[in-house]
Amino acid sequence: GKSGYDHYMLKEIHEQPTAIRKCLRERVNELEGSVGVEELSELECDGPVQFVACGTSYHAALYGARLLRERGIRAQCFLASEYDVGMVPVSSDTLVVGVTQSGETADTMSALRAANRSGATTLALTNVVGSSAARECDHVMYIRAGPEIGVAATKTFASQQVALAMLSSVLSEESSMEFVERLRDLPDQIQQVLDGSQARGVAEAYEDSDAYFFIGRGYNAPVALEGALKMKEITYKHAEGFAAGELKHGPLALVTEKTPVFAMLTGSDISKTLGNVKEVEARSAPVVAVTDSPDTVSRYVDHVLEVPSAGSRFTPILANIQLQLVSYWVANRMGRSIDKPRNLAKSVTVE
Ligand code: M6R
Repeated sequence: GKSGYDHYMLKEIHEQPTAIRKCLRERVNELEGSVGVEELSELECDGPVQFVACGTSYHAALYGARLLRERGIRAQCFLASEYDVGMVPVSSDTLVVGVTQSGETADTMSALRAANRSGATTLALTNVVGSSAARECDHVMYIRAGPEIGVAATKTFASQQVALAMLSSVLSEESSMEFVERLRDLPDQIQQVLDGSQARGVAEAYEDSDAYFFIGRGYNAPVALEGALKMKEITYKHAEGFAAGELKHGPLALVTEKTPVFAMLTGSDISKTLGNVKEVEARSAPVVAVTDSPDTVSRYVDHVLEVPSAGSRFTPILANIQLQLVSYWVANRMGRSIDKPRNLAKSVTVE
């Protein structure tokens, strides 16, 4: 059941500390500062990595690819429906990673089948034991989020991000005390966000807006995309996410006093993104900052949703949780069918 929550989505948002603890269990060694994933003990990979995924899982893949690149691994992301082994070079040293919560998404399955046919090594990063993706791929790593009933992916996104962080460490054979401690601290930090979130008030302030924009750079760029997807999916309102620097290359024309802009201002990217915030403020748009540095940013924005600092890689995971809550409360105020939005299915089994 929903354990007293009005919707599975809200329950699953609150399950994130537990989901992340399960994802990390027996995979991080705090004494050695090392990461080891049992399922991947046979995986060898010196070549490039290609991620294939759809929707929220694609946003997780964008985040994961950046983690890999930061560790010196060549990594690219493809929307599974656009993946074409005839166009992208795939060889036997290529690792193709399908990121798929359900393990049943038709677009992702056909990309993985094509990768297998062309001789790549394949890995499924999935939540569902024995799913089609798990069976199709040479290797599988489970995200261990537990069943997700809400059509909107929430806890599984956070679990994918954490699993991808561990994968980046496994593939690069690099880890550190700091990295492992940051992972270990995430569940408690997520709990802090859940306990102290002002997202409901922000949702009430802007529930009548017809459009919402989300901006972030670096590790926050996929979070901006994910924030917008969640908003569209459950409120049926127009929402767009952009890499913060792209706003001035077109979308800025849409920004008015009626379009709240959610800006991810975490880690070391703050000053550039603050520049983008000033651009939207010059158009009188209300700005909500999701930030670990409220002292630096609060004078530039209308609302602050604070998150603890988890370093430049992981603070965006916390920022996303604030966005999940904002979307949830807007949809809730509107009386939407939050767990089963119109036109959508939990797993999309047609191409
Ligand atoms: O099961 P998958 O991760 O392969 O699903 C991919 C997308 O259909 C899914 O993430 C979708 O975008 C979510 N409903 C978003 O909340």
